[in-house]
Amino acid sequence: MNGIHLLLLITTAMASCDNVSGQILTSQLIQSAVGAQPNENVIVSPISIETCLALAYLGAEGQTAEELAISLALKHAGDKQSVAQKFGRLFEKTKSVGSATFRLANRIYLDQRFQISTKYNELALNQMHANAETVRFADAAATAATINSWVEAETDNKIRGLIAGNSLDGNTALVLVNALYFKAKWLHQFSNHSTTKRDFHVSAERKLEVDMMKQTDTFLYGNFKELDATAVELSYLDTDVSMLVLLPKSVDGLAALETKLKSVDLTKLSAAMRTEEVNIHLPKFKFEFDLALKPVLAQLGVTTMFSDKADFSSMLAEKEKVSVSQAQHKAFIEVNESGTEAAAATYLKIVPLSATFAQQTYQFVADHPFVFAIKDNKNVYFVGHVTHL
Ligand SMILES: *[C@@H]1O[C@H](CO)[C@@H](O)[C@H](O)[C@H]1NC(C)=O
Ligand SMILES: *[C@@H]1O[C@H](CO)[C@@H](O)[C@H](O)[C@H]1NC(C)=O
Repeated sequence: MNGIHLLLLITTAMASCDNVSGQILTSQLIQSAVGAQPNENVIVSPISIETCLALAYLGAEGQTAEELAISLALKHAGDKQSVAQKFGRLFEKTKSVGSATFRLANRIYLDQRFQISTKYNELALNQMHANAETVRFADAAATAATINSWVEAETDNKIRGLIAGNSLDGNTALVLVNALYFKAKWLHQFSNHSTTKRDFHVSAERKLEVDMMKQTDTFLYGNFKELDATAVELSYLDTDVSMLVLLPKSVDGLAALETKLKSVDLTKLSAAMRTEEVNIHLPKFKFEFDLALKPVLAQLGVTTMFSDKADFSSMLAEKEKVSVSQAQHKAFIEVNESGTEAAAATYLKIVPLSATFAQQTYQFVADHPFVFAIKDNKNVYFVGHVTHL
């Protein structure tokens, strides 16, 4: 399936929950993820990213908090307690019913040098079920393995190796992690023997032969003239989550569609669709996608938390100033005759400011003769000087 680019969105009616899926972030994600790799398959989980950002928001103050609030569309969400409750309500979806599983999990990994503040702990733990686990980030490889195993367990091994051992070090203060897992069978399954090799047009000039699934049944169908696209919504069994597939009318229409989707709330599109009989051809697919979030968030104006002005003063019990040094997302999807399995994980790495941003930068330019020593705190093993090269 290399080179095939599909736009697939798993939307949820969220009948019982508030709509926390900020449309702002979702559309920026589509733009950024797609813009970064125009010919790649893309999957990201807005909810996973938002939940992780919300966890950071609960410990943020000032401009840092304000920017996060805007990106998360929290303007009218009230105080932190209400924001935590709002995200906490997502856990109502966390369940296994029949063949459908929806799992959402948060966790805080905290270096043994630090303690989180009582207030932050209350919000994170009571509302967002984010347990704080103490680790030793100096044992980078072991700690990365601990975090990765937790993510693997939460995602049924679909998100593996989220954090590379070398992205942690003794300087790390906290890592905030979200994991999301979804698996469900189609309400109307595709029959295995109807799947045949068919052309998939990568562009007007280029096509690939793929495993195309087929079925005819009643589905929500929409013809969106303003988007120059048609859409179907495929329901899953035992859940109100469904998959919306938006198909540009022209082979080369994806980029134009994605631009238009910037101003569309995907959760609202189904309301404009009608139940019709539809003959669906949908390729089977399976892939994963990695996304560095810093540039995406910068597009949304979330920059302070990455800077020396970051204010997470309500997160830790200590007075230590910290900022976010890394924000990473990874997602997986498999779609076949039986249904869908999808998983995602997001993490924010938080480090002390003192270590990230020196007050002053000293210059050391060894462009003339110098002395060197190879030593430890007891012995000098080698010493010498360099006068010419
Ligand atoms: C299709 O094949 C898969 C695995 O080969 C099997 O688990 C599933 O039950 C089959 N579906 C139907 C409808 O026969
Ligand atoms: C479809 O994918 C699921 C995993 O989501 C897998 O268990 C199942 O065997 C697959 N079925 C077919 C027909 O490939």
